[in-house]
Amino acid sequence: MSVEPIILQQLPTDLSKDRLPQHVAVIMDGNGRWAKNQGKPRIIGHQKGVDVLKDLLRCCKDWGIPALTAYAFSTENWGRPHGEVQFLMTLFERVLRRELQEMKAENVKIRFVGNLQDLPASLRQEIDRSMEDTKNNQGIQFTVATNYGGRHEIIQACQAIATKVEQGYLKSSEINEGVFEQYLYTQGIPHPDLLIRTSGEMRISNFLLWQIAYAEIYVTPALWPDFNREEFHQALITYQKRDRRFGKVK
Ligand code: FPP
Repeated sequence: MSVEPIILQQLPTDLSKDRLPQHVAVIMDGNGRWAKNQGKPRIIGHQKGVDVLKDLLRCCKDWGIPALTAYAFSTENWGRPHGEVQFLMTLFERVLRRELQEMKAENVKIRFVGNLQDLPASLRQEIDRSMEDTKNNQGIQFTVATNYGGRHEIIQACQAIATKVEQGYLKSSEINEGVFEQYLYTQGIPHPDLLIRTSGEMRISNFLLWQIAYAEIYVTPALWPDFNREEFHQALITYQKRDRRFGKVK
């Protein structure tokens, strides 16, 4: 007898609404392996990955999680074969163009973080348009890390702060965590409570190095194209069992 898949439209009853993470970040790993397992080119994995991300965004909205951040392209990903990099850049652009109306209608506020100047001009244009058109939306905050590297983000913040000190606008003794955060790409976005990585790799891969200081980390062996609502449900069950002490004693 076959079992019908559970669609999990609403928050599963074994999750507590009051203890949901307020911000989930995802390292979407395993697209290439998923495609290879199916005897298909790697780009097919990336294409499927977009559908999965789209459903996760909708799922966060359905279940009442107000912020999602996805690691779409790292500063190190330029080292991939030229054709794959080009495919990804075109894919981001196409997806943005295709999904913008829906994101507007669903009250999604989209923000791109990373070194955006080095992206192709036509992609930058779509990025600017999507951020501008959704800037007043009050629904879910969707952040896409593109040409993003945590170390680069910290260095550029240090440089900007050093310039302020040189110009006399800031004293070095005034630099604290709050000031530092104003110079990060993620300025104004709360830190992630939960970081999910797919494909079983136990690495941070230069993602949100500052922001995940106290995030709970959940690694699943599922490859990103197989990450569905049931997988997300399991991640949240694990999250809700964790005892978050933030370095203190209860
Ligand atoms: C990692 O899998 C995945 C990526 C580097 C790309 C992820 C991008 C998307 C899913 C598209 C998102 C689109 C928008 C517009 C936000 P991998 O290639 O490293 O897989 P492997 O480890 O199996 O080789």
